[in-house]
Amino acid sequence: MSIREALREAVFYLKRGGVPNPYLDAQMLLADLLGRSRAYLLAHGETLLPPELLTQYRAWVARRAAGEPLAYIVGYTWFYGLKLHITSDVLVPRPETEVLVEHAIREVQSRQGKVVRAADVGTGSGAIAVAIAVHESRARVWATDVSAPALRVASRNVHAHNVCGRVLLIQADLLTPLRGPFDLIVANLPYVGEEEADVLAPEVREYEPGVALWAGKDGLSLIRRLLAQAPSRLAERGVVLMEIGYRQGAQVVELARRHFPHARVTLHRDLAGHERVVRIAL
Ligand SMILES: C[S@@+](CC[C@H](N)C(=O)[O-])C[C@H]1O[C@@H](n2cnc3c(N)ncnc32)[C@H](O)[C@@H]1O
Repeated sequence: MSIREALREAVFYLKRGGVPNPYLDAQMLLADLLGRSRAYLLAHGETLLPPELLTQYRAWVARRAAGEPLAYIVGYTWFYGLKLHITSDVLVPRPETEVLVEHAIREVQSRQGKVVRAADVGTGSGAIAVAIAVHESRARVWATDVSAPALRVASRNVHAHNVCGRVLLIQADLLTPLRGPFDLIVANLPYVGEEEADVLAPEVREYEPGVALWAGKDGLSLIRRLLAQAPSRLAERGVVLMEIGYRQGAQVVELARRHFPHARVTLHRDLAGHERVVRIAL
């Protein structure tokens, strides 16, 4: 079978499976298997695929058509310009979270000339910690997660991007064993409420780890607990940055004001215009 025929067949199955971008995903999977660019596929439509490769491609297409995220199939994703190793033990880092990283990098840059101590709470694949450390050599990041399998994925990413000396991975419940003081506390914790189970895309609900998604009835149980821990761990003029669900802004601002009565609390939007980041500045 030629590249063009294989792509056509894949698009058929992906469409039938309700995959949102069937053409793109068909190309990405095949390009990855061949170790070539998507442009190569288009320019070499007549090239015949070796039978073993075709078998593998069909297996991948079947997984994608069943709803499995692309990143779990190919084993990586891109985040903040970095290629990250990904397995089904971690949440696939989202583009919205790049907004959180942008804010975090700005905070590091605003503290000129000294080491900036940061915590990344619920690090998962290590996406936020690694992105901060790669872009800001003055940042030292203490990255925690309750999940040991997630921390193994994070460890691979920390090593692959040469930031082992500046990112420390710790298995912990939030910030419990850490005293700080931190100049910056960054967190993209689970924030989906059990009440929202039915609005979550099946692809997310069925494939991504529950420990990375759910946070009690209203989705705020972990954010609430982190806000209770943060005041005693934050340095003078420290900043907390948290990603939130797009309907949680008002509630989280109120919680933040309760725990940080003298801080400046602001909400920031993602590229889709949703309130996505809460910033608490002492
Ligand atoms: C939404 S995922 C975010 C992962 C990563 N920070 C990102 O942005 O892609 C939340 C992460 O928090 C971790 N987590 C859940 N409960 C936690 C807790 N009590 N303490 C620390 N981490 C926790 C999960 O294991 C998961 O890796």
